[in-house]
Amino acid sequence: MWGLKLTTGASIVIKVCLAGATGWAGSELACSMARTQDLQLVAAVSRKHASRRLGDILGEPHLDCSIYGSAAEALANPCDVFVEYTKPEIAKTNILTALERGAHVVVGTSGLTDGDYEDIDSVARKQHRGVLACGNFALTAVLLQRFAEVAARFIPQWEIIDYAQDDKLDAPSGTVRELAARLSKVRHPEPTVPVDRCEGPREARGATVSASQIHSIRLPGYVISAEIIFGAPDQRLTIRHDSGSSARPYVDGALLAIRKVSTLAGLHRGLDSVLDI
Ligand SMILES: NC(=O)c1ccc[n+]([C@@H]2O[C@H](COP(=O)([O-])OP(=O)(O)OC[C@H]3O[C@@H](n4cnc5c(N)ncnc54)[C@H](OP(=O)(O)O)[C@@H]3O)[C@@H](O)[C@H]2O)c1
Repeated sequence: MWGLKLTTGASIVIKVCLAGATGWAGSELACSMARTQDLQLVAAVSRKHASRRLGDILGEPHLDCSIYGSAAEALANPCDVFVEYTKPEIAKTNILTALERGAHVVVGTSGLTDGDYEDIDSVARKQHRGVLACGNFALTAVLLQRFAEVAARFIPQWEIIDYAQDDKLDAPSGTVRELAARLSKVRHPEPTVPVDRCEGPREARGATVSASQIHSIRLPGYVISAEIIFGAPDQRLTIRHDSGSSARPYVDGALLAIRKVSTLAGLHRGLDSVLDI
């Protein structure tokens, strides 16, 4: 079993393997990890840059680890935490491989289904490891989820709108999938006219995900926004998160998840699993 390693100064250093370290989100995270004392990147994953040194690709001299073409190869380097920041088509395989090798896992990649997460939870429990999956590490997105859970206790009707840039392939986004999954644990929405009794094209009412109706908009000019509208007689509540064009909002949440995931067992969704809010 891989434990957290102690340095000579007796401070704990967490060894991390980062899949997607050369991507938009992963590269920002990797460079931020290089500026910490307690997190050490021991391996990175990217197909295009396999066999290169991560610091040379990102222009960050302190990142001394090698890049591997697959998570299975990178995980030959013992690590405490595996961070998944690639693409949904490979994410589940990477996560299960990391769990089987004894690492805790932080999932940033969007697009995994509730069924994928059930399988991941069962392997994580069998391996006595924690998985912390956050569809959105940004603080304002985390707060949106928590505030929406409170609102759902009092207002039984809501719909979700998911905005993203035109070239985002997966829909709905990980942010709103996670929101819907969490709200389904509070209650299921009670529409006045159930969706299967509506007239006209079924798609006009959006996709039903974890019992919520989700409408995904993909247009140039958006990055990631998530909006939930609660409706009650003659009143409405809108809660909305908007992110800008840099990957900066996701770094602090991801660093916190890496530091805390070893305190968990099984799958936990949402950063507030390790936040006191
Ligand atoms: N949770 C959050 O807060 C948050 C924030 C931002 C983004 N995301 C999500 O995180 C994921 C990554 O987003 P991004 O914008 O950083 O994507 P990106 O810029 O396209 O980067 C993807 C990274 O994954 C690697 N990769 C892709 N497919 C791979 C494969 N089959 N095997 C190994 N490596 C692979 C890429 O390197 P190679 O192409 O060289 O292999 C690259 O390093 C997406 O699902 C996105 O929605 C989540």
